[in-house]
Amino acid sequence: MNLHCWCRLHIHQNPFFPNALLSNSSMMGELAIDKHVKYIISVEKKKDSFESVVMEHLRLNGAYWGLTTLDLLGKLDAVDKEEVISWMMKCQHESGGFAGNIGHDPHILYTLSAVQVLALFDKLDVLDVDKVSNYVAGLQNEDGSFSGDMWGEVDTRFSYIAICCLSILKRLDKINVDKAVNYIVSCKNPDGGFGCTPGGESHTGQIFCCVGALALVGALHHVDKDLLGWWLCERQFKSGGLNGRPEKLPDVCYSWWVLSSSIMINRAHWINKEKLVKYILDCQDTENGGISDRPDDAVDVFHTYFGVAGLSLLEYPGVKAIDPAYALPVDVVNRIFLAN
Ligand code: FPP
Ligand code: ZN
Repeated sequence: MNLHCWCRLHIHQNPFFPNALLSNSSMMGELAIDKHVKYIISVEKKKDSFESVVMEHLRLNGAYWGLTTLDLLGKLDAVDKEEVISWMMKCQHESGGFAGNIGHDPHILYTLSAVQVLALFDKLDVLDVDKVSNYVAGLQNEDGSFSGDMWGEVDTRFSYIAICCLSILKRLDKINVDKAVNYIVSCKNPDGGFGCTPGGESHTGQIFCCVGALALVGALHHVDKDLLGWWLCERQFKSGGLNGRPEKLPDVCYSWWVLSSSIMINRAHWINKEKLVKYILDCQDTENGGISDRPDDAVDVFHTYFGVAGLSLLEYPGVKAIDPAYALPVDVVNRIFLAN
């Protein structure tokens, strides 16, 4: 199997929207880059705010959203990298896995966030790579699926997370990739989509995970690209926004889950990109920064990240390119795989 085929596509210019660079003149409103940078930095500083207390267990995941946003906007230098890394390493357990915050239990999700943040900072060398990858590989089950932690919940999100993490760490040989692929394929539905377990309803979050995992291990031939591409483009509303499943409201975060999946199966041209750009821009708080799920709702870091990441996939000027499978800036992915 060709384990690192995905990243090679990105050494060249984005091949998914040939001749599709958006000109400033074709745009309605602008991305308020400076405001969004200020918003992300202010959330990072307000560690005892209500939002931070409620999200405490998710903090390492939040760090990945916020820091990736800053990097996509060319402002990663605005944070104290050593301070972030020192806090993050205190979240690591003896098992090798990372928790969402100091004193919490380890989970595969936060382990990927830690690896992604270290990759952003070009600091993967602070990790004991075998220890972290043994933790991740130890979560694979006999049927090829992955559990999220020692309590055993199984979900295709964890298959993606394990594969993405081990691919970045160059340790995919520690798992049974064929069995992992077979499990993901067993979660494929007659509508072309994927669910969290066999028979589970298709959901674009899970589709991103399954398509992303298959892309990373060179197994996209298991996807019915026309069928899934059609289901994905049907997620778009007249407003330009996308939903995650039929009968649900549009939401900025689905700009990422739907568009990244469509790009990986080469069907992104079935989505109206100008309208999607407008929808994301309409969800900005142009006064205080940040992006919300729908126009005029309260902003948060999660939707700010996925809005900016969506614009990155749409080649919005001034936003760095993001890799649709690794969910990291393309230059970071190239640095990992082109390094000697
Ligand atoms: C929707 O969740 C999203 C998912 C189910 C996918 C989550 C994927 C991961 C955690 C893997 C890591 C992701 C990246 C980008 C590195 P939701 O709870 O918002 O769904 P809802 O809208 O149906 O409530
Ligand atoms: Zn959302």
